[in-house]
Amino acid sequence: MTVLERTDQPHSSPSQGANPDWTIPQGYERYGEAEHRTWTTLYERQADILPGRACDAFLHGLDALDLHGHGIPDFQQLNDKLNALTGWRVVAVPGLVPDAVFFEHLANRRFPAANFIRGARELDYLQEPDIFHDVFGHVPMLTDPVFADYMQAYGKGGLRALSLGSLANLARLYWYTVEFGLLETPRGLRIYGAGIVSSRTESIFALASGSPNRLGFDLERVMRTLYRIDDFQQVYFVIPSLQDLLDVTTGTDFGPLYAKMSRMTDIPIAAIEPGDKIFTRGTQDYARSGGRLRQGAA
Ligand code: PHE
Ligand code: FE
Repeated sequence: MTVLERTDQPHSSPSQGANPDWTIPQGYERYGEAEHRTWTTLYERQADILPGRACDAFLHGLDALDLHGHGIPDFQQLNDKLNALTGWRVVAVPGLVPDAVFFEHLANRRFPAANFIRGARELDYLQEPDIFHDVFGHVPMLTDPVFADYMQAYGKGGLRALSLGSLANLARLYWYTVEFGLLETPRGLRIYGAGIVSSRTESIFALASGSPNRLGFDLERVMRTLYRIDDFQQVYFVIPSLQDLLDVTTGTDFGPLYAKMSRMTDIPIAAIEPGDKIFTRGTQDYARSGGRLRQGAA
């Protein structure tokens, strides 16, 4: 789970029984039948709507990892496949971990994932990312070699941003790419962000709704843009390719950029700036009418 998907901070030291790096055993044998069923229900709902919406890298990853509807995946089996593909592994954590711990894992190609699953009565809205968001949402993209490198570079960049006091700017990059990113393809826009692909309602909203803006990705612009964590996004940023995202982020020294941005104002969520490449100019009707994840809001 990411440190960016919450407003509170976790405890400052690992809970009893956890390792110094905050990892815990997944506890696979402790899942009950109802929990496995919740996974399968969520899986089937997404499998139904993601073809034609999610990008190829995600859909291929889903197949390659065999995350099909057989209940919650066993991290050991999952890691055999994932590690062979890109050298990444999934490690279980109790939920929230401190920023530095999270980045340290990413920098070493370990993705921290919650080991618990949401209750059967809260399939659509989650206060805190669970194993379905973390594994179904994030892990398929880690089978893509380019995205795999991006996530590792992000982890290293996170440690650096922490030491420079610029985490707020870097967190927005994570938000608008890893969590809510869209990709331009010859067949139209596709989803690669984990926050979208793990949500039935936002998978539809992100591509079909007339409400949000969809703008071309620009590194500095994105790192200046505020975001909200409790409702559908009001703006999505579109990358031309995963390779382009990797190249522009690893090819830029963020140090001077952080210094420059610290003297600039933040950009409001729904703003359109001079120089923005506009894919869709949204009406913002959804947000203006109160939002809150209305079913069928698309
Ligand atoms: N190039 C960034 C820096 O100088 C590191 C980074 C790479 C950050 C990729 C995010 C993603 O800090
Ligand atoms: Fe996430």
